[in-house]
Amino acid sequence: MLIDPAGRPISYLRLSVTDRCDLRCVYCLGGAVRFVPRAQILSLEEIERAAAALIGLGIRRLRLTGGEPLLRRGLVGLAGRLAAHRGGGLDELTLTTNGTRLAEHAAALAAAGVGRINVSLDALSPDSYRRVTGGGRVAPVLEGIAAARAAGLAVRVNALALRGLIETEIDSLLAWCGGHGCDLAVIEPMPFGGPGLAPVPLAELRRSLEQRWTLRPDPFRSAGPARYVTVAETGGRLGFIAPISHGFCAGCNRLRLTATGALFPCLAAESSIDLRPALREGGDLTATIRAAIAAKPAAAPGWPGSRRALNLTGG
Ligand code: GTP
Ligand code: 5AD
Ligand code: SF4
Repeated sequence: MLIDPAGRPISYLRLSVTDRCDLRCVYCLGGAVRFVPRAQILSLEEIERAAAALIGLGIRRLRLTGGEPLLRRGLVGLAGRLAAHRGGGLDELTLTTNGTRLAEHAAALAAAGVGRINVSLDALSPDSYRRVTGGGRVAPVLEGIAAARAAGLAVRVNALALRGLIETEIDSLLAWCGGHGCDLAVIEPMPFGGPGLAPVPLAELRRSLEQRWTLRPDPFRSAGPARYVTVAETGGRLGFIAPISHGFCAGCNRLRLTATGALFPCLAAESSIDLRPALREGGDLTATIRAAIAAKPAAAPGWPGSRRALNLTGG
């Protein structure tokens, strides 16, 4: 088992397979976009070796992210090979996607062994969706979610609590998710990446929802920071993720591996440990991973402070 200097068991790896994305969400890639040169991106084989070493050391849950992970060629095959570790210590393989290409990959992802997926969907109205994603089309995302449900995947929709957007979208998102058998999570925007928009504090959003919906506490916990309620009218679950107003550093169980092989001990850390020399030149991978764990801060340093967009570190 991996234990960090603050005594927290580290069992969850977020693995970013690409920094590329086909959307330009205002809170992420809305600003200047510079992708890293291809030569710096880990090969699928390097990703597999890194993941195997991390699983060998005690990682139990693995979430594939990006950028947009489904833009990475060979992702479904990679998912299948990673899922094979479920016989050897891995409990769960999940994926976070923007859903634009989900319809074409949903069945194969389920067959490969992915169990749950989180889909970013900040608005149902085509105009609002286009605005928040810098030109995206919402219809393919909705088709992708329907395909994922049909393939037996558990789906959670992620919506950022952005002022001027969430207030007009939340009711239709709740109803749509309830009708399609998906959980919904509302997320406080963190100060990463683009210029962003003003956040709506989740306590305010909840008070407003309680005037129209019956919210009942729900004991369900995923591996992550969301706290859930059940929406009586739809029977669906609604999660609240509040990194700003209720920091969850004390219970943090995660590491992040970027597409270039940088192992970040914390989402907000400025520095990381590079796994590439060990992967490419045969260094001691285990010792390098242990060094990253030893560097995990007890709380996000200078939080909220980093400006690195989440497409690189993995959302
Ligand atoms: P599961 O519980 O496994 O479903 O995952 P999750 O909620 O961590 O996954 P998801 O990819 O959907 O991320 C949702 C949001 O959680 C992100 O937008 C972040 O706001 C927040 N989040 C995820 N990881 C971290 C982290 O390490 N630190 C902080 N502060 N926020 C995080
Ligand atoms: N703050 C909070 N969440 C963010 N995401 C992307 N950028 C930010 C940000 N600045 C979310 C996406 C996706 C998840 C992985 O991260 O909406 O659902
Ligand atoms: Fe792409 Fe996700 Fe960033 Fe939006 S939040 S630009 S979908 S990586």
